[in-house]
Amino acid sequence: MGILSQLSIINLLWTTAVFCQYEDYDFGDEYDEPDQHPHYFNSNPSAQAEVPHFSFPVQCARECFCPPEFPLSMYCDHRKLKTIPNIPAHVQQLYLQNNDIEAVPAGPFTNVTILREINLSFNKIKSHMIDRGVFAKLSNLVQLHLQHNELDEFPFPLPSSLERLLLGFNKISQLPGIALDGLPNITMLDLCNNFLDDSVLKGNHFSVMNNLMQLNLCNNKLQTMPPSLPSSLMYLSLENNSISYIPENYFSKLPKIIALRMSHNNLQNIPRNTFINLPNLLELNLGHNKLKQVFYIPRSLQHLYIEDNDIEMINVTLMCPSIDLMNINQLTYIRVDQNKLTAPISTYAFFCFPHIRTIYYGEQNSNANKSTQIRTAVFRRLLTPEEYDEIEDDRETHDQETEEEHEAENNYFFPHFW
Ligand SMILES: *[C@@H]1O[C@H](CO)[C@@H](O)[C@H](O)[C@H]1NC(C)=O
Ligand SMILES: *[C@@H]1O[C@H](CO)[C@@H](O)[C@H](O)[C@H]1NC(C)=O
Ligand SMILES: *[C@@H]1O[C@H](CO)[C@@H](O)[C@H](O)[C@H]1NC(C)=O
Ligand SMILES: *[C@@H]1O[C@H](CO)[C@@H](O)[C@H](O)[C@H]1NC(C)=O
Ligand SMILES: *[C@@H]1O[C@H](CO)[C@@H](O)[C@H](O)[C@H]1NC(C)=O
Ligand SMILES: *[C@@H]1O[C@H](CO)[C@@H](O)[C@H](O)[C@H]1NC(C)=O
Repeated sequence: MGILSQLSIINLLWTTAVFCQYEDYDFGDEYDEPDQHPHYFNSNPSAQAEVPHFSFPVQCARECFCPPEFPLSMYCDHRKLKTIPNIPAHVQQLYLQNNDIEAVPAGPFTNVTILREINLSFNKIKSHMIDRGVFAKLSNLVQLHLQHNELDEFPFPLPSSLERLLLGFNKISQLPGIALDGLPNITMLDLCNNFLDDSVLKGNHFSVMNNLMQLNLCNNKLQTMPPSLPSSLMYLSLENNSISYIPENYFSKLPKIIALRMSHNNLQNIPRNTFINLPNLLELNLGHNKLKQVFYIPRSLQHLYIEDNDIEMINVTLMCPSIDLMNINQLTYIRVDQNKLTAPISTYAFFCFPHIRTIYYGEQNSNANKSTQIRTAVFRRLLTPEEYDEIEDDRETHDQETEEEHEAENNYFFPHFW
């Protein structure tokens, strides 16, 4: 195969992975078939070892299934259950997803002591039918899945052991002032697809979660950036809100940010230096906004998405005011289709961004002509023979890894990477 066609294939794979990333936006969906991989939960394998021995066969609720090979798990999912069965004391993982459960009473949890994980997603749970304190009592609970229910309020109180809380696809419009106070160990909070607006997030809600790494607030009704985020944050998802600006210095308090997703908002002007001093930023997605101008690109950035904006010209000097040969820009991929570009990006870009592999120009919407194409819809850089050899070597040594790596790069938000 010629160099060019091989490269095209790499890029094609890559681009496909990039475009597909949003379809998998359910962060909890690695687990499907109960019998296959309950090990998913035991990211800390020693967790099971701490548990005392049981005499077998262990107890199991009549409605559920407790596989002998995973004695600490109880499967009650997809059973049209209307109530939560009694939970035996030894259960560590409880699967109750895809039922018709409306209430979470304290009764079934009476004997529970070591429960670490509950999946209650895809039920009909209503906020006022959760017994007060029922979750807070579970002092070993690490993961709680409540996405796709009918909650209108943030569940409160919760146990301080909690690390991952999934609340997407509810109707949450209320977040009591102190709801997040006792949750020092939360690393991942998913609130996408709810009814949150600016007034709900006022105050210092998030700043108390000083281990928070991932915050998902996509598909809500925010008009401004969420206030007071903790400096531990690495992944921020704000797609499809109505945010119209990013305050000056907003990210100066978030130096650990790795990925920022803000597509489908109303951003018009981004202060030129908004993303300065973000040494870890790898992915920046500002597609489907109303941007007219580009902005400073931090050296670490690899993937930039600014498609479907109002950009007429990409001023490379703004993106890259100076070239530092000791610390070169890492950008490899830019997506700029559906803007108002009339010419390709200045070749100066290739000095600033020597790692560029693909610039996706696609179709442009210039004023006069509804849809025009720049000479080439997709720019792919030819590699120097040395670079080509490098890739070849890589492919020979870790053959399969190449694709996995690309996939990994495009899935920063997926929980299994950290
Ligand atoms: C929880 O249940 C949902 C719905 O079936 C499923 O998609 C998800 O993978 C489950 N997650 C875990 C961690 O059990
Ligand atoms: C709790 O354990 C006791 C003693 O084993 C048992 O009688 C009772 O039914 C259990 N309650 C629940 C809700 O499982
Ligand atoms: C929080 O996490 C730390 C470190 O894993 C652990 O030692 C501590 O017990 C946790 N706190 C609670 C309340 O579980
Ligand atoms: C944005 O959110 C609205 C609901 O708030 C939804 O109807 C729409 O499909 C979402 N758009 C995208 C692109 O996700
Ligand atoms: C690009 O931006 C730089 C810095 O603001 C400015 O000096 C220059 O005039 C701009 N170039 C064009 C062609 O607009
Ligand atoms: C539209 O584009 C065509 C070719 O791309 C060009 O010849 C024509 O002049 C353009 N029309 C206007 C009004 O700019």
